[in-house]
Amino acid sequence: MNQRVLSGIQPTGKLHIGNYLGAVANWIKLQDQYETYFAVVDMHSLTADYKPAEKREQIMATVIELLASGIDPKKSTIFIQSQVPQHAELAWYFATLTPVSFLERMTQYKDKAARQKENINAGLFTYPVLQAADILLYKPFGVPVGEDQLQHLELANDIARKFNARFGSTFEQIKPLLTKTPRVMSLLEPSKKMSKSLGEGHVINMNDEAAVIEKKISKAVTDTGSTKQMSAGTKNLFTLLENFGEPEEFNFFKEAFASGNIKYSDLKKNLAKLIAHHFADYRRRRKELEKNPEQVMRILAEGKEKAQAVAARTLTEVKTKMGLVL
Ligand code: TRP
Repeated sequence: MNQRVLSGIQPTGKLHIGNYLGAVANWIKLQDQYETYFAVVDMHSLTADYKPAEKREQIMATVIELLASGIDPKKSTIFIQSQVPQHAELAWYFATLTPVSFLERMTQYKDKAARQKENINAGLFTYPVLQAADILLYKPFGVPVGEDQLQHLELANDIARKFNARFGSTFEQIKPLLTKTPRVMSLLEPSKKMSKSLGEGHVINMNDEAAVIEKKISKAVTDTGSTKQMSAGTKNLFTLLENFGEPEEFNFFKEAFASGNIKYSDLKKNLAKLIAHHFADYRRRRKELEKNPEQVMRILAEGKEKAQAVAARTLTEVKTKMGLVL
């Protein structure tokens, strides 16, 4: 088994604590154990509505955020998807192996199509095929993702199996590397995953200053009335407390809840402080990188070279097996 790991992140340009706990925190740990590749998947991001004038900014911001969080270019290859054209190429070959019925089953596609009725583009539909290409190009053994991506990884494995069956053994089955953290939910609509697309009040950004965090958490929905059953909103705050606080704090509020004496305003104030403190270094490093765009560009140029070297090898193998190399 090789030691390679790959993951991808969309360039929203504003990482929130859900992205952090669900993905980036895990990536930072993995880079000490494995040969890690991290792609900023700008091509995927074109399947949602966007303003071209903002795209570049968002991509740069995402790279800066990853670096400021602790993704270390000495340990990891960090690159932009569209700068490695093999992703799009392999996606086409994979598309010819993917039954439409498989794509129609994808829950993320159905969710997004329902949300952007005016823009159900073909890219949104074939999004998981491009994701399969992102992954299999690097032949990783594992892909760190949140549980919402499991279906996409299964599809990548389906495609790998189909490719092998038709053209000979090429791709091994990949393993999802799930983070222990459960999903972080929206502050205002805790039945939904925390997502920038829901609106600013729903998310806590890693870059939010302490006062902003406090204000947002103060508006988070908790329990209505005295229920023994913990509501989704309260559960979400406890999840955050568990991840950003010490076990003593977590246990203190857990017991207060159990006895019916919990003061949500105290829980919220504590939580806001913990989160603001946790990302203090991040905010400082981020400001430094923003002043040094040349440094960021150098890191990306290097990432592109390293990613392309691996991607080109796989693509040549694929084209040869498919009979395209003359
Ligand atoms: N679809 C993933 C998400 O929304 C992003 C992604 C694109 C990805 N390509 C990937 C994740 C490859 C892991 C591996 O989070």
